[in-house]
Amino acid sequence: MKLQSRAVETRSETRAAKLQGKRVGFVPTMGALHDGHISLVRAAKAQSDFVLASIFVNPTQFGPNEDLAKYPRTFEADRKKLEAEGVDLLFAPSVEEMYPDGAVTFVPVEGISDRLDGRSRPGHFRGVATVVAKLCHIAEPDVAFFGQKDAAQVAIIKRMVRDLMFPVEIVVVPIVREPDGLALSSRNAYLSPAERKQATVLSRALREVHAQYRSGERSAARLIEAARQVFASEPSVRLDYVEIVDRDTLESVSQVKAGTLVAVAAFVGSTRLIDNVVLT
Ligand code: PAJ
Repeated sequence: MKLQSRAVETRSETRAAKLQGKRVGFVPTMGALHDGHISLVRAAKAQSDFVLASIFVNPTQFGPNEDLAKYPRTFEADRKKLEAEGVDLLFAPSVEEMYPDGAVTFVPVEGISDRLDGRSRPGHFRGVATVVAKLCHIAEPDVAFFGQKDAAQVAIIKRMVRDLMFPVEIVVVPIVREPDGLALSSRNAYLSPAERKQATVLSRALREVHAQYRSGERSAARLIEAARQVFASEPSVRLDYVEIVDRDTLESVSQVKAGTLVAVAAFVGSTRLIDNVVLT
């Protein structure tokens, strides 16, 4: 596996691969890699001939009071994991490389960026869309892989790619969970043993909603109430939101159907976790 910190050299490598007729797959990450990230890498290996991964803790997607400074950074372990998965190229730029002095151009995906996490984290999705746009311009991948774990991120990236006509296909990979249901997240590392147990309330609430949907409940209001009741059983966890929305527009719906997105966010101690399920 080659390691690159420079944008121009990274583009030379992916262009060379494409000239050889290879399909370039891209997995953007912020590092602290776990099996959720690795499932994206495996999907990329299966669906492309040259796999590029990136590790960049993107400052523009963190709010002023968020965890940018303490975000887990485990570069050596990450590098080894990617190498073991057969990744061809790892792009790990500095902040200065990605945001040269005087960089003032951003990508606000309007409206949709203010929903779900965007409402709780103003500016977050502007930062995400901007960095993904830059990474795609740098690497010019044929296909890029994102986790369903960040359902709002998926909707926003797909919209940006459509609206700005990026020549890239977006592939969405299912959520990887711990045996007890907790969705894997780099932020799970912040949880104390007691919080780790409480954190299963997110997936328990979603399971309850899904069970009620499967028994015929179609009212979003009643399904939201069912989720809230599960959260009420874990009073130390502070619910940020539970919302039932159209998975593409992130607009609230009153009646649910197959394909509707149920998304939750909650604070377990000071750690903010998200999870979701698409009703089937
Ligand atoms: P990060 O949180 O590192 O996640 C990188 C990718 O891994 C995202 O597409 C995310 O949805 C996926 N992922 C995380 N946990 C997962 C899980 N349990 N199952 C499946 N996929 C999972 O998301 C970002 O970084 C950043 O916003 C980024 C897109 C890199 C832009 O900075």
